[in-house]
Amino acid sequence: MGAVLERLGLTVPIVLAPMAGGVGTPALVAAVSQAGGLGSIGAAYLTPEQITAHGQAVRAHTDRPFAVNLFAPLPVPTVSADQVAGACAELAPFHASLGLPAPALPEHVQEDFETQFAAVVALQPAVCSFAFGRLVPAHLSQLRRAGILAVGTATSVTEARVLEADGVDAVVVQGGGAGGHRGGWQEDALADTVALTRAAVNAVRVPVIAAGGLMTAADVRAVLGAGATLAQCGTAFLLADEAGTSAAYRAALTVGGETVLTTAFSGRTARGLANAVSREVHTPLPYPHQNALTRPLRAAGAAAGRADVLSVWAGTGYAQATAAPAASILARLTP
Ligand SMILES: Cc1cc2nc3c(=O)[nH]c(=O)nc-3n(C[C@H](O)[C@H](O)[C@H](O)COP(=O)(O)O)c2cc1C
Repeated sequence: MGAVLERLGLTVPIVLAPMAGGVGTPALVAAVSQAGGLGSIGAAYLTPEQITAHGQAVRAHTDRPFAVNLFAPLPVPTVSADQVAGACAELAPFHASLGLPAPALPEHVQEDFETQFAAVVALQPAVCSFAFGRLVPAHLSQLRRAGILAVGTATSVTEARVLEADGVDAVVVQGGGAGGHRGGWQEDALADTVALTRAAVNAVRVPVIAAGGLMTAADVRAVLGAGATLAQCGTAFLLADEAGTSAAYRAALTVGGETVLTTAFSGRTARGLANAVSREVHTPLPYPHQNALTRPLRAAGAAAGRADVLSVWAGTGYAQATAAPAASILARLTP
């Protein structure tokens, strides 16, 4: 293990992937950290107050290190009234089927990065990881001054090199089978996880954390064998007792089907189980507008047990996910 990771004192070379949107509860994060891995709070959609509260809730259960994950700040694209009308029209039948008012784009489409970031720095987690892009030098030096390790997300060797040159302490490389959003900025980069790991380990000097489709101890062994320092697993924990995965989401994972890459829910490419929304929404707004536009539908769908309107994020290996306490899932993943 690299010096950076020795500093974390992990006893298991596994990171619980950050899972924004309710799956990655403080209880799940704490359970993984307490068992010797690195739990990650998926804080991208949390308010600064919620970030503080989640961090405190993790600390109430464990004094082990954990990570907090944000989406790097990106310019918010302008959308025309016609685009909004088109996206709303596609979602209208789903709203009607749930008795929801007609879809409307809210004024507030995402949390303010600066205040989220300030809450993370004040919380002082061991690690701040980020996806979707790069942090500016001022943010990276703020993390360094606070003694918080900075971990970027790459989906290609090119992105890994850029992040290393920016000064990150480690880089997550995400293969194409990963569940959830594509974590880099080249949304069409879909590499095999082991091959990408090997290539990234050769290309950068910082520790490489491999992610994407890692469902068994043999999968974890394969990426460590390819030179990864740690393995990051998300889908393997979707059915964990402590996860916030809704009942409809859990049921959909158990029923199965094919995973697809879709922009229908958020405007950014993400992998999940195919359903009515991924099949029928063809003109989504760009991120973060579509994400804000579909939020009421996803919330109502979860409450009503309607997996056909939920973003059922899942990696290609989802059929191997098992329902169990997080600590036993972690033990099963440990090589
Ligand atoms: C439900 C879900 C939510 C996710 N949310 C985030 C997130 O907020 N931030 C992030 O960097 N990655 C997120 N990811 C991607 C993970 O970091 C990771 O790349 C992925 O889970 C690895 O592939 P696997 O799901 O096959 O294990 C999410 C993945 C899932 C399944």
